[in-house]
Amino acid sequence: MKSLVDQHGRKIDYLRISITDRCNLRCIYCMPESGVAHKSHEEILTYAEIMKIVVAASYCGIKKVRITGGEPLVRKDVVDLVAAIAKTANINDFSLTTNGMLLGEYAEELKNAGLRRINISLDSLVREKCEMITRRDALNKVVEGIDTALRVGLGPVKINVVVIRGVNDDEIAEFAKLTCDKPLHVRFIEFMPIGDNSIWGMEKFIPNDEVKNLCRELGELKEEGSQPNGNTSSYRLGKAKGTISFISPISSPFCGGCGRLRLTSDGKLRLCLGSAEEIDLLSIVRNSKFSSEHLIEAFERAAILKPKGHRFNCAPHISGKKTMCQIGG
Ligand code: 5AD
Ligand code: SF4
Repeated sequence: MKSLVDQHGRKIDYLRISITDRCNLRCIYCMPESGVAHKSHEEILTYAEIMKIVVAASYCGIKKVRITGGEPLVRKDVVDLVAAIAKTANINDFSLTTNGMLLGEYAEELKNAGLRRINISLDSLVREKCEMITRRDALNKVVEGIDTALRVGLGPVKINVVVIRGVNDDEIAEFAKLTCDKPLHVRFIEFMPIGDNSIWGMEKFIPNDEVKNLCRELGELKEEGSQPNGNTSSYRLGKAKGTISFISPISSPFCGGCGRLRLTSDGKLRLCLGSAEEIDLLSIVRNSKFSSEHLIEAFERAAILKPKGHRFNCAPHISGKKTMCQIGG
């Protein structure tokens, strides 16, 4: 077992794996209405290839794995991959990010396959607005998915809310109140300029300080301590069952504690969400002379090359042309 430390003293221990660039929603900030040009099946890592990478990553000191997309639950046999990752040595934190549309169907199987916890993206609690944002009539399905996740014990269940001024900033209190009666953990995420078709603009951006102040109008927010990677503190409203947290990549960058690498569905290792640098792992796993040593070397190279931080603040859209559904959230 190795441990990867990058040039800036950060321990690299977290791999986010996007298993598909496809999605059953078309969120206005992520995809154009017509969708994005999908990769063909040949261009996408197979589950066996993903597992080669996961095993090498865990050998290099990766302890945390998250499956993302696109929408990961639209990929066939995703439960098999979840089961295989859950059995991998040294992975002690294993989660998945989903838009929740298929969670009613899959939550129980995912739990039985060894998934520990889940993040669900939801940006509006009003049916028509949710439809405006996702371009699909999604709300009822997502709510059903959230309830199923809670029922089968796939917790902690976290709800990711991207706050966009003029779009859903009037619903901040309603989202915060969701934490009161159910063990739901609501995370307000600052809107980032990602991809070249994003609707991002400074006028749509709301710093999380403002969001936090709106939450405080509901009552005292008691701080419960921060996560080890330093990107969030969580807060509780009185005796609420769940917590509220604020992910502030723009107003308060947490790059100093970032130990993440991202694997795209086409097999590229991304070193930072905010830069387009990639290391090609697909060609390594498909090489006829494949050896896991080559993957280990690639992870070591990733640690050397990982940039110190994102540069969203100096140059919006610097992250390249890929949108979140292609990079993996
Ligand atoms: N800014 C902030 N969050 C985003 N997500 C997708 N695009 C953006 C963006 N531009 C979120 C999704 C999901 C997570 C994977 O990333 O809503 O919650
Ligand atoms: Fe799909 Fe997530 Fe992109 Fe929405 S933000 S289109 S749910 S990948």
